[in-house]
Amino acid sequence: MKRKVTKAVFPVAGMGTRFLPATKSVPKEIMTLVDRPLIQYAIDEARAAGIKEFIFVTAKGKSALEDYFDCSPHLESELRKKGKTDLLETLKATNMDSGAIAYIRQQKALGLGHAVWCARRLIGNEPFAVILPDDVIAGETPCLQQMVEAYAETGGNMVAAMEVPHEKTKAYGVLDVQDDMGSMVSVKGMVEKPEPDDAPSNLAVIGRYILTPKVLQNISKAKKGAGGEIQLTDAIAEEIGKEDGGVYGYRFRGQRFDCGSKAGFLQATVAFGLARDDLRDEFSDYLTEMVALQNAAQ
Ligand code: UTP
Repeated sequence: MKRKVTKAVFPVAGMGTRFLPATKSVPKEIMTLVDRPLIQYAIDEARAAGIKEFIFVTAKGKSALEDYFDCSPHLESELRKKGKTDLLETLKATNMDSGAIAYIRQQKALGLGHAVWCARRLIGNEPFAVILPDDVIAGETPCLQQMVEAYAETGGNMVAAMEVPHEKTKAYGVLDVQDDMGSMVSVKGMVEKPEPDDAPSNLAVIGRYILTPKVLQNISKAKKGAGGEIQLTDAIAEEIGKEDGGVYGYRFRGQRFDCGSKAGFLQATVAFGLARDDLRDEFSDYLTEMVALQNAAQ
């Protein structure tokens, strides 16, 4: 069954331990690339793909995230008084329509699969997208939009996929490819975090999914998988080969940054800084100087 995808789940209940001590009080998703928090990039991407309902799976300590989408009448009136129309415009992107955003708590961080399952009643019986905000993807056409367009042709379940170095497979869910059709592959198996020697390919799943409600049913009977967590990958893998479902990997066009890791976050900061007209010249001069100094010191 192919349907329009209008709901997206944003699992943001993880503890973000790789960014301690910052994440002791600042949710990872509120950390900024240049001047926008990670969550804003995710929301913008979802909107571009036609998403109308935004479901956040949060946890204790994430109230800054909920506040971020609140209206700020005082701030807005101050900006209006000062004639700062450009900043007012920037703030508009953070405003959500009434009723378009919902927050559900995941009481225990039992894994990504469990986080998505927590949203089951809000998702209901329709296909839905999942966006992990710490995977930030730069590209001409936003990644989820590419996937929604491809999904309109295939239906089933679709995961964003990209080639990773062989030795890095242990950090990802990895696809066992049945047919390679270029931008799309059909999948005959999925393995969560395999050792390089056990990995069926180097095509890794990253944080964008379009899933059928059947996956939610699979999660409800799921056992703990890799790392003792309830894995989303395992629940998706159950749909492989099903006549009304199936699983596809989608090789998106764009550059993905793993902003859940320190190195990835720094790389994204550099890339997004250099992409900005108002910062490029000053920032690239600085970087050139830094690299020259580093080389001279070696
Ligand atoms: P990560 O594996 O990056 O975990 O989760 P984390 O807790 O965010 O970060 P580290 O590893 O401790 O530094 C991937 C995504 O799944 C969500 C996270 O919020 C993140 O968006 N997640 C993970 C949940 O919502 N609940 C969970 O139980 C686990």
